[in-house]
Amino acid sequence: MRTKITDIATYLPEKVVTNDDLSKNLDTSHEWIYTRTGIESRHISSEDEVTSTLAIEATRKLMQQSSIEPMDLDAIIVSTTTGDTRFPSCACKVQGAIGACRAFAFDVNAACAGFIYALAVADSMMKSMKLRKVLLIASETITKFVDWTDRSTCVLFGDGAGAMLLEATENGDTGIIATKLYANGEDEKYNSILAHNGEQNGNRGYITMAGRTVFKYAIDYMAMSMKEILDENNMSMDDIDWIIPHQANRRILESMCKMRDFPLDKVIITTQEHANTSSASIPLALRDALDKGKVKQGDTLLFTALGAGLTWGSAIVKI
Ligand code: ACO
Repeated sequence: MRTKITDIATYLPEKVVTNDDLSKNLDTSHEWIYTRTGIESRHISSEDEVTSTLAIEATRKLMQQSSIEPMDLDAIIVSTTTGDTRFPSCACKVQGAIGACRAFAFDVNAACAGFIYALAVADSMMKSMKLRKVLLIASETITKFVDWTDRSTCVLFGDGAGAMLLEATENGDTGIIATKLYANGEDEKYNSILAHNGEQNGNRGYITMAGRTVFKYAIDYMAMSMKEILDENNMSMDDIDWIIPHQANRRILESMCKMRDFPLDKVIITTQEHANTSSASIPLALRDALDKGKVKQGDTLLFTALGAGLTWGSAIVKI
């Protein structure tokens, strides 16, 4: 049995904020942001939109475009690091909103690597528990957790959600081929370079980051995990049609390809319009690439991501 991604829908908040918009209230410029990150604009959730709102919107779109009924779902797994509440989970809110009464539901938090973690968890649960249909969502409202006076972090992020239908299949060679996960939180160094701090008395807190250090780890660890997963599966970059990485920023991806001799023309990049949407970035990039006719059915994809923790990992999927 293989786990196949059979459909995907996304939701982006209506409000679009350009770099020029940001520069009206912040000491920054389009030129600075674009040359260092490739970001031109980002979608930002409104006051009354929370992470579950985005997740539910993406799920409703998925339900409309596929033949799936809520009662068909065996489980709902949401990757998020920006849940509306500590509990109940975002997944339970989605389950209630769509009336998927048969499905069990829970969240996975591995920061920006959360989608890869959730995909691996879903795949292994589908195999071990013989589940047939699982709704996998990555939803984030990370712009609610930035300090809008800190120009070195707030310009980097955007909000969005992607909802995928995973189905068990006995037919053919499509589906998840392999997943590989890593974490290192043992050292104060790893905990402090990228973290969420200052949450107290109803204050949501904010992201702090050592940008240059994160830049370096993102290149080293994503490259390492892609190499290891390919080697372990007796594959090479020649077997991959598209690399869909976490969309932290364009310069990280360009530098990684240059330093490790990876093919940049095989990398899907959506940072210009989405910015960094944390764990939602890979599903958003996949939907975008499908819509633009880049990714086609039958293609073999290599997902990779690094996030706070540190957490990182890769997955190989034939869609
Ligand atoms: N506009 C204008 N100037 C700025 C801005 C801004 N938005 N932000 C910082 N600066 C200034 C700094 O104050 C500094 O000024 P100074 O030299 O007078 O002190 C100067 O620009 C250079 O700052 P650096 O931080 O050294 O700039 P750098 O070239 O390293 O670029 C950046 C910063 C874009 C954050 C880069 O380090 C980076 O891309 N890091 C990766 C971080 C990332 O993507 N994090 C996302 C979360 S992690 C993840 O998803 C994997």
